[in-house]
Amino acid sequence: MTNIWARKSTDELTKEAAHSDSETRPLKRTLSALHLVALGIGGIIGAGIFVLTGHAAAANAGPAVTLSFLFGAVACAFAGLCYAEMASTVPISGSAYTYAYATLGELIAWIIGWDLILEYAVGAITVAIGWSGYVVSFAKDFGLNIPADFASSPLVYDSTRHAWATTGAIVNAPAVAIIAVITWLLVIGIRESARFNNIIVAVKLTVIFLFIIFCAPHVSTSNWVAAANPDGHFVPPNAGQGVYGWSGVIRGAAVVFFAYIGFDAVSTAAQEAKAPHRDMPIGILGSLVICTLLYVIVGFVLTGIVPYDRLNVPDPIAVGIDAAGVGWLAPLIKLGIVFGLTSVILVLLLGQPRIFRAMAYDGLLPPAAAKIHARFQTPYVSTIASGAVVAVLAGLLPIGLVGELVSIGTLFAFAVVSIGTLVLRIVDPGLHRPFRAPAIWIVGPLGAASSIFLMFGLPVDTWGRLVVWLAIGLAIYFGYGAKRSRIALAR
Ligand code: ALA
Repeated sequence: MTNIWARKSTDELTKEAAHSDSETRPLKRTLSALHLVALGIGGIIGAGIFVLTGHAAAANAGPAVTLSFLFGAVACAFAGLCYAEMASTVPISGSAYTYAYATLGELIAWIIGWDLILEYAVGAITVAIGWSGYVVSFAKDFGLNIPADFASSPLVYDSTRHAWATTGAIVNAPAVAIIAVITWLLVIGIRESARFNNIIVAVKLTVIFLFIIFCAPHVSTSNWVAAANPDGHFVPPNAGQGVYGWSGVIRGAAVVFFAYIGFDAVSTAAQEAKAPHRDMPIGILGSLVICTLLYVIVGFVLTGIVPYDRLNVPDPIAVGIDAAGVGWLAPLIKLGIVFGLTSVILVLLLGQPRIFRAMAYDGLLPPAAAKIHARFQTPYVSTIASGAVVAVLAGLLPIGLVGELVSIGTLFAFAVVSIGTLVLRIVDPGLHRPFRAPAIWIVGPLGAASSIFLMFGLPVDTWGRLVVWLAIGLAIYFGYGAKRSRIALAR
């Protein structure tokens, strides 16, 4: 057994950064603050706002889902500052895995790498299921009925009885299809360029503005206080742990936290930023502020035009448009959403094999996971392996369950990055930090505390799944990686 606490030194990281392969060679510094903000928005706006808002309003927070969005934003702001510092300091394209390896040692890095599968792979499953919902709804506008048996999940989890049940459906075929197509694109090497991203961002923002402009005039304030809520409260009376009331608002925050995931993608572009010390915080915090504002407004409008108990559907924005009587707008908005969701799946499925590859490069996963295709120059083995598993699960699982799993996994990663940033300040105070998070003694602990607080908003079953997932990861680490770690063996 090697030293499971081995840390990657800054020398080792610098060497790795200079290593001239396609994954780690020095990158050109071409991105401005505006590019970074667009990158953030490109990764952030997706199934969270277009799909999970409805689920969180109907099942957890009622009209107070807007408060849930604000709580989610606070946790992200603290963690975002820590990500910005790490991204400008650790000199290879960052992920929480790399940051943890540099600060908290190999075992914690492995745990985070394993945990990030929940953010990336399970995140892709979640967005693919959302994609399917909007495609079905879009097809219906043109008279094409995709039978529900082939477009919804055959499995459902009854959280009150803690038991799985079948729905009678066979498979969520559109969700499987979109994962298969994107996996194929990623294998043959199509990359999301800044230009493509800017177009998708423009489409997403247009969709949101159209929704707000055309639906806001139809808001009925009675929906915020009266619908299915005879007591007339903005926060509906509590009906059990996480079901309305303040515990519902917190659980709603943990659910819609999913909507903010993706700003950490900005941190992965640290080496391409023209002026990281100034532009990383602008990119990370700027995209967060813009998305928070939009989310809060959309939350208000959506729960103002539709009674919240009618929003537990795969396409809540479409339900809102219908309720506002602007049905002619629906196909346009749905198409925009389908495009927007496609780019989020692409980014997530692009990220997952890169993390596997970094872990394989370090000897913690089998070398095959780092294999690059001779012609396409892409990590095809890990891309196909992740794509296959993601496709199967997207065809079977319900969106609420996987969305919560993504939230808990990502919150856990955010907590570790926040702690890691503080630890690196202590163990290596002299390290050159192009961007320093302000008041790290407050921001670091609050980043960890707010993430952990939101984790506690999630159901016990979701915690159980996280624990089982991490236990499987530990078994693999001690059975495989701990004996083969490149860093530890080199010492
Ligand atoms: N934030 C991204 C979404 O909502 C993952 O789809």
